[in-house]
Amino acid sequence: MCGIVGYLGPAKAAPVLLSELRCLEYRGYDSAGVAIIQDGELSVLKAAGKLNNLEKLITDNKPTATVGIGHTRWATHGVPNDQNAHPHLDASKTIAVVHNGIIENYEELKDELIKDGYAFESDTDTEVIAHLISKVYETEKDMLKAIFKTVGLLRGAYALGVVSQKHPDKIYAINQHYSLSVGLGNNESFLASDSMAVRQYTNKVVRLEQSEIAEITKEGVRLFAFDGKEVKRRPMSLDSNPYVIDKGGYKHFLLKEIHEQPLVLRQTLAKYLVHPTKPVSFIPHITPNSNGAATNNEEENQLSKSYGVHLTEMELKGIDRIQVVACGTAYHASLVGKLIIEQLCNLPVSVDIASEIRGRRLMVNESSLTIAVSQSGETADTLAALEEAKKLGSFTLGITNRPDSHLSQITPNLIVTECGIEVSVAATKTYLAQLTSFYLLGIYLAEARGAITTEHARKLKSDLNAIPTLLEQILAKENEIRLASLKYADAHDVVFIGRGFNYPTALEGALKLKELSYIHASGYAAGELKHGPIAVLDSKVPVVTVLVPGVVYEKTLSNAQEARARNAQMIAVAVEGDEQAARTFDTVLSIPAVDEFFSPLLTVVPMQLMSYFIADYLGKDVDQPRNLAKSVTVE
Ligand code: F6R
Repeated sequence: MCGIVGYLGPAKAAPVLLSELRCLEYRGYDSAGVAIIQDGELSVLKAAGKLNNLEKLITDNKPTATVGIGHTRWATHGVPNDQNAHPHLDASKTIAVVHNGIIENYEELKDELIKDGYAFESDTDTEVIAHLISKVYETEKDMLKAIFKTVGLLRGAYALGVVSQKHPDKIYAINQHYSLSVGLGNNESFLASDSMAVRQYTNKVVRLEQSEIAEITKEGVRLFAFDGKEVKRRPMSLDSNPYVIDKGGYKHFLLKEIHEQPLVLRQTLAKYLVHPTKPVSFIPHITPNSNGAATNNEEENQLSKSYGVHLTEMELKGIDRIQVVACGTAYHASLVGKLIIEQLCNLPVSVDIASEIRGRRLMVNESSLTIAVSQSGETADTLAALEEAKKLGSFTLGITNRPDSHLSQITPNLIVTECGIEVSVAATKTYLAQLTSFYLLGIYLAEARGAITTEHARKLKSDLNAIPTLLEQILAKENEIRLASLKYADAHDVVFIGRGFNYPTALEGALKLKELSYIHASGYAAGELKHGPIAVLDSKVPVVTVLVPGVVYEKTLSNAQEARARNAQMIAVAVEGDEQAARTFDTVLSIPAVDEFFSPLLTVVPMQLMSYFIADYLGKDVDQPRNLAKSVTVE
């Protein structure tokens, strides 16, 4: 959460900082700001609200400075207003700091600074850092020493960008349990929380590891550990094709990303499933070079080498328990993953919300596999849970859409989903890709452990390969889904129910509706309705039931009948031609016939579209819903 950027070079800094910030707006959009060194003086431009407000300030002021840092904020300490927007300055207004993360002991530090006569202009924890660096600098007269001493006083997980008017040829970056990358260009350098933001300028990047400080100049970067020792690290090459970020003719990124799902599935399947007669293989992915050919350049392959699952057959056979950790939508995908793996491999799987692992005993050991699922690969709680599992000796595996993320650094085993960047803050295509990864992983583990016959494996793979075409059939009915959904746009509460493989779909459907439209929605296991939630039902409450033929069909239908008996407005996601559904529900959002086992890959799509159309109709900011951020790096 929060995005940090920086630039030093021959070009005007403000437009570069802005374009870097555009790539990081997904990390928060409560306010944005830049600090630049203009004619030897530090100057700050910052504004509450979206980046456009900062852009206007920059356009009006036309700064010509060639060095600066910038920030896009997701508020933690202090409301999102101009005053609390970053950068924050020290008392002499010569040092500026941008900050991502939380300083846990900031109140203590602030009290001491106030006793020493320092005055504060914001409610943020960040401002203490600017004052502390400045205070130490007064005696040390050396920025690096001032930063080393300051980080020694800070508690928490954070990343910082710092500039000082006394050292206009340098930017300092500090990383403590976050992500920061320095991009190296030709006589120019860049700083960003996410390497994606520098990729538009250079593909040569040095990542800061934990507890490291970077001193950045136009010519390059020097790295130091918090204890002052210099660290040598060669730059790595990112995929040379910068991500193309455009709406492709769609009104919103969200709608585009929903429509990309058949392609995403095809790409993810193509990468790991060569043919139904061949075993699933999570081989290391080789990044093609700019000519599209695999490269043998060791440096270029540095990133791609970490891809893939590198567990031996013996290790795979020895696993006796799987623990999955994830948050939000990734948690919902993991709940489906549990059912897939348990069914195919006869292995116990536990799924936990990663933040709930904190302070608890994690039940894993040397014969467990812990899987962290995170599209961004940066979610603080998910990473912490995986680190905890590692300490306990568990094998680890990550499922992510970002092979260049922090997650990829902390586990040797990585399944990379082939989604391209997901710009919309609400996850859609990455959810489907995470589900696909779990189907592939389930088959992979079952094959390696001899838990399924060759014939069964072949059938599963063929069925999986057929899913993208079925998805296209749902998307072709988008307009029908739009008209049906808008009948419910004035609801205040919506209930989603499902059982078995589609209980997680009900949770995900409710999450999508609430985050996009701000309508209150809850997902329940259909059988739980009568244990309490049914009390909220009346004629004003729509109930969305996921109803797919299979072992839980009849029971789910009975649960829906219970809702109907309370006069609820009845909506179903059901397969085409289901006559019982047509009789029971006021509205049926239909999907093609599908095996219950694979149905979560289809049933969620009408719910994504329903949420999108309602939110758009209500005039909500569907790509950047209020209060959210795409990368949740605070705990
Ligand atoms: C919802 C959504 C979030 C994320 C959650 C975890 O649409 O996107 O619930 O799923 O914040 O994020 P990652 O997957 O990046 O760990």
